Amino acid sequence: MKTIFITGASSGIGQALAIEYAKRYQQTGVSIGIVARRSEHLQFLATQLMQQHQAKCYVYACDVRDAKALANAAQDFMQQAGTPNIVIANAGVSRGTLTEYLEDIAAFQAVMDINVMGMVHTFQPFITSMKQARKTGAQAQLVGVASVAGVRGLPGSGAYSASKAAAMTYLESLRSEMQHHDIAVTTVAPGYIRTPMTDINTYSMPFLMEVEVFARKFADAVEKQTRYTVIPWQMGVVARLMRFIPPVLWDRLTRNAPHKSRIEQPE
Ligand SMILES: NC(=O)c1ccc[n+]([C@@H]2O[C@H](COP(=O)([O-])OP(=O)(O)OC[C@H]3O[C@@H](n4cnc5c(N)ncnc54)[C@H](OP(=O)(O)O)[C@@H]3O)[C@@H](O)[C@H]2O)c1
Repeated sequence: MKTIFITGASSGIGQALAIEYAKRYQQTGVSIGIVARRSEHLQFLATQLMQQHQAKCYVYACDVRDAKALANAAQDFMQQAGTPNIVIANAGVSRGTLTEYLEDIAAFQAVMDINVMGMVHTFQPFITSMKQARKTGAQAQLVGVASVAGVRGLPGSGAYSASKAAAMTYLESLRSEMQHHDIAVTTVAPGYIRTPMTDINTYSMPFLMEVEVFARKFADAVEKQTRYTVIPWQMGVVARLMRFIPPVLWDRLTRNAPHKSRIEQPE
């Protein structure tokens, strides 16, 4: 029996992961906790997971910026389903932002709070119980969803790139700390995946991957307890090359790069 907790499950990657895990562990049984703000989307998914894959499903409609709400959700989930084997901090937002606009400060704040603090709020309430569970030999793994956009600063995406760079560095610290407790930490950096987040992009997206294919590869990487992976692998090659580009060349390459348009209303 697997027990899995996923944030950002009301659409895109999180939803596809919930379906992938329900299918993957249908024979042996799976309990899945799903989190997002849009409760009707979560309820719809829960019904699908229960009816089509016999998964046990627990729905938590909350905002990952709310540490207390996530602590309550985690408490309830552990009481009902037990300590999770896998916790996936996937909830995230992407907003075009430009520092010169006063009104974009709220968007910067929201992106940093959701993409970075939301991840901390998701993992924190589970760690003590996972440490105990690990002593009895149970699988215990924390998985964070970062982005190739966090490898270098992309123009027009200052908030998003900074948040994903912070998420990657945070996950690296966490991985090092969790070694003492034998809890695995996996960083998944997606390239371009077809979801509502990318559906609004008007520019070309190299190596765009279907979300169901991505979810399968994601679950495979988690199963292998990979420390860091970029999916699709082609974007992994691009990300490696990006790291070595000197700042002067990076500035030239990105000067006229297409980017997400600004959205005036914050989250
Ligand atoms: N798609 C890509 O190409 C791509 C590439 C790199 C990284 N990523 C990352 O992958 C993750 C999932 O993105 P996606 O493509 O699946 O986008 P998506 O379809 O827009 O899904 C985002 C999910 O996050 C949830 N969420 C957003 N803000 C939240 C909040 N404050 N509290 C709780 N849940 C919140 C949303 O649910 P509600 O709105 O219902 O709350 C939704 O379920 C994100 O972290 C994103 O940065 C995606």
